[in-house]
Amino acid sequence: MPDWDKRYGKVGPPLFGDAPNEYVRAIVARSDFAAARVLCLADGDGRNGRWLAQQGIVVDAVDLSEVATELARSKDRAAGVSVNRIAADLLKWQPESAETWDAVFVIYLQADPMTREASARLAAQHLRPGGWFCLEAFAQKPAEVGDGAMGPDDPQLRYSIDEITRWLPGFHVIEALTGRVRLDEGARHRGDAWVARFAARKSD
Ligand SMILES: C[S@@+](CC[C@H](N)C(=O)[O-])C[C@H]1O[C@@H](n2cnc3c(N)ncnc32)[C@H](O)[C@@H]1O
Repeated sequence: MPDWDKRYGKVGPPLFGDAPNEYVRAIVARSDFAAARVLCLADGDGRNGRWLAQQGIVVDAVDLSEVATELARSKDRAAGVSVNRIAADLLKWQPESAETWDAVFVIYLQADPMTREASARLAAQHLRPGGWFCLEAFAQKPAEVGDGAMGPDDPQLRYSIDEITRWLPGFHVIEALTGRVRLDEGARHRGDAWVARFAARKSD
């Protein structure tokens, strides 16, 4: 597993850029999306949480890396926004039982299957009825895609739509896609990639 503290601690351009992820922007632009309070899981140095806060949304964000979380806090301050940032492992982190969010974003959480599942189940438990679960990540590739697409070599670290759907019983799927995209996000996400994009709403 990557050493995220080490990666975020290196001096250089932001790993995934400072602009928000395209899919986050696309979800927020939908006419049927509305959120006053959002949870960003694995928010790294905070580009997505920060942008959501700039849209007037109250944002809580969790990430394993202390270094990324500190960096995110300092970028939030520079941008003049407030995000409640927590450094914690999503395999163990539990919000207060009464906490609810209108949407949960999981953008490129690169972690083992147990952590991925724990994150989705946590989201499912703490979304309000009608709330949105939105995810983008590297997906398992069909054989014909070969090595030509970026992302982790270990297939265990790639998502499948089947597993995501299994974690969220009773959710109404809005979109569930895998396919090739050209990523243009900072120094590390640049080039052809095979990704999953998934959005679903909790039943009312
Ligand atoms: C590829 S980066 C993506 C960061 C951010 N979502 C973005 O798109 O810029 C993956 C992030 O997942 C976080 N992460 C990995 N395992 C985690 C875990 N068990 N709990 C919380 N965060 C984790 C890392 O610290 C890192 O910030």
